[in-house]
Amino acid sequence: MATAADKRDAAAREQAAQYLGMHFASASAWRDPERPVFVRGEGCYLWDDKGDRYLDGLSGLFCVNIGHGRADLAAAASAQAERLAFATNWSAAHPPSSEAAALIASLAPGDLDVVFFVNSGSEANESAIKFARQYHQSQGEPKRIKVISREMAYHGTTLGALSATGIPRFREPFLPLLPWFRHVPNTYGWEQAGDVSAAELPCLRAIEEAIIEEGPETVALLIAEPVQNVGGVLVPPEDYWRELRRICDRYGVLLASDDIICGFGRLGHWFGFERVGAEPDIVTFAKGVTSAYAPLGGMIVRRPLVDGLLDSPVATFTHGATFGGHPVSTAVAVANITALREERIPEHVLELEAYFRAGLDELALRHRSVKEVRGAGFLYGLELAPDRDTAREFTPSEKVEVCGRILLDAMSRAGLFTRADDRGPAMLMLAPPLVADRTVLDDLFTMVDSALVELDGWVAKSHGV
Ligand SMILES: Cc1ncc(COP(=O)(O)O)c(C=O)c1O
Repeated sequence: MATAADKRDAAAREQAAQYLGMHFASASAWRDPERPVFVRGEGCYLWDDKGDRYLDGLSGLFCVNIGHGRADLAAAASAQAERLAFATNWSAAHPPSSEAAALIASLAPGDLDVVFFVNSGSEANESAIKFARQYHQSQGEPKRIKVISREMAYHGTTLGALSATGIPRFREPFLPLLPWFRHVPNTYGWEQAGDVSAAELPCLRAIEEAIIEEGPETVALLIAEPVQNVGGVLVPPEDYWRELRRICDRYGVLLASDDIICGFGRLGHWFGFERVGAEPDIVTFAKGVTSAYAPLGGMIVRRPLVDGLLDSPVATFTHGATFGGHPVSTAVAVANITALREERIPEHVLELEAYFRAGLDELALRHRSVKEVRGAGFLYGLELAPDRDTAREFTPSEKVEVCGRILLDAMSRAGLFTRADDRGPAMLMLAPPLVADRTVLDDLFTMVDSALVELDGWVAKSHGV
């Protein structure tokens, strides 16, 4: 007998086709009746409305860190909704947001211990930008309003976060964006800096030059991801973040780590910035803080900065959101972080990192379409090209075809749900839930292998390789 849930699942495809707006979807994807409709998740796997099983190779959107189907997280949400569904953090507090803030502060090093909650990664970055400006105002430097971020970085969709975003395709429809944002080179091509010291890296020199050109007295904030996702899964070279810190200190600029993907175990540490030796003033987070069982974002700010603002004539951080620190979301964050800690998930990621990497390196050896494997922890990308032994790259239209059709279809046949990203170099993204064990990773390798066989076949046909 069909249950109420079965009936709802069966109706979803038609209802979506009629009524549901699709995010970042081309007209064909928006109207595609064959779009994926997922109805259930367990561990690292998802089931669609046709009963087919998929390995969740992207942890949703880099967010289901603890894996799907956790009854303890669901129970935490339910218990909190019953006890107190809503109270604000507008000059008031409640137990779950207080506990979540204390827990997150206890995980963050040094004086990074004031936690300000919002609802998403975009809002978290928006908060960091606004805090930096008001902090500088409070210190008698109201001209410091500019924000520096890196080319191809994704920092969100709200207009401040989008202005920091460096992806031309996302920016262009909304130009002109806010004028006081400046984009600087990322670390693409400099993962191995060889003999070049961090201080001499051209991508770092360009940042210092940009600050000087803008006028250091006008620059408020520099924001970057520990490992930059879009643009090629860019692991910074040795000492890169230490040099960023030195540059920021030299010119009085605040330094923010966008930990929205990299945080909560993704790189094998509580925070991605720890992995790369960074010492940020502000850390933004979202996604993995609740393993996506409820929406939550936020920032952690160094206490002296908060005190500096509050003790000044400015005295108020003029920013907030109705649902910031929502009791249900923050109760879920506490349950999620507790589970990540008790199950030693960051340690598990570090233990399996070499196995993950070795499996991908082996795939790269077998497939000439894999130009490079990049990443850390449980965040990897395979950079793709027609043939890594030649300098040939995919043309822009081939890249769209490879990422938008060839690989998507091949992965779907293999039972793998993940992203082939054509926003920078063509990348196959692999970021499974952090609870994936060797068996799941082996399953992932088999699926990627079969998708790459199809890609190699397509390349051979269209390039005569
Ligand atoms: C690095 C980074 N920053 C910010 C965001 C924006 O987060 P949200 O989609 O929750 O607004 C994302 C989302 O993917 C992200 O990957």
